Amino acid sequence: MKKIVVLLLVLVMGLSTLTACGKKSGGTKVGVSMPTKDLQRWNQDGDNMKAKLEEAGYTVDLQYASNDVPTQVSQIENMISSGCKVLVIASIEGDSLGTVLEQAKEKDIKVIAYDRLIMNSDAVTYYATFDNNMVGVKQGEYIESQLNLKSGAGPFNIELITGDPGDNNARFFFGGAMSVLQKYIDNGQLVVRSGQKDFDTVATQSWSTENAQNRFDAIIAAYYADGTQLDAVMASNDSTAMGVTNSLEANYASNHSNWPIITGQDCDKANVKNMLAGKQAMSIFKDTRDLAAKTVEMVDAIMQGKEAPVNDTKTYDNGKGVVPSYLCEPVFADVNNYKKLLIDSGYYKESDIQ
Ligand code: BGC
Repeated sequence: MKKIVVLLLVLVMGLSTLTACGKKSGGTKVGVSMPTKDLQRWNQDGDNMKAKLEEAGYTVDLQYASNDVPTQVSQIENMISSGCKVLVIASIEGDSLGTVLEQAKEKDIKVIAYDRLIMNSDAVTYYATFDNNMVGVKQGEYIESQLNLKSGAGPFNIELITGDPGDNNARFFFGGAMSVLQKYIDNGQLVVRSGQKDFDTVATQSWSTENAQNRFDAIIAAYYADGTQLDAVMASNDSTAMGVTNSLEANYASNHSNWPIITGQDCDKANVKNMLAGKQAMSIFKDTRDLAAKTVEMVDAIMQGKEAPVNDTKTYDNGKGVVPSYLCEPVFADVNNYKKLLIDSGYYKESDIQ
């Protein structure tokens, strides 16, 4: 009798805990693997994911891999062996996780590729990201409109810089931007004086600011040191844009009267400061809170054995098939709209960017 009462008590307590937080997740463990703490955005992504998953009642194992592939692999191995039921992974190198994700698949652990597609693995259930092609298109269109290219203006000098060749996103960003700009290069309205135009040449290992700066130091020295004006730089994101800006400050500002239009992506605080100081024209704003919310919806759907909401089932083929994706919408931020986008929305405090 006593045993039954105790059992009933435990059951009631269990039920009331469940209803108290109104969750179906019951402490299920989710692994969140982020590439690096070096870039502001991934810290935000990690924090958002952790907060939103915990709000939904999950237990979270959040790890950052210092941009080192073996570290990411071993962190994921630990997540698998320590009982995570779902893995949310922003890969360092899209191609390097196939083997470890085989282990996940064997244990029926579901994998969501977060922001960056995981390539050549059939263990990926969903992909949650921003529309990466659209990011590039918006950067290209910004330059197109600022330079009045549609009305035939030019010729203008432009240089190009994109991201890590192992990050599938970089190809989409670059491809999107070139889908707008290539025609103006072809007809001579845009001139790439360095001649560096193809993806592999303009890629930046690890998206590193330092690598970007080194490459631009060389470009400025060889093609612009004689006073030739550089009118625009299509930079795929903020860390590379920062390298360009640093290089221009050191090698260009003192003997040129203009400052080129520089694009970016992420609205990192340091880059928004540069935007306000007139050193970077725009940055694509990807509200990481939306991406985290979408990813949590995917985790919930997986745990309930339901289909997650997706809005793209054709674009992202990872080499083993198309991964059903949810693409959030990127927007551009510049000095004219940053207040509404970044401050009024609560993304930053005014003091973050002063
Ligand atoms: C992300 C960008 C980020 C870049 C460098 C890309 O995969 O989509 O937002 O700027 O990686 O971390």
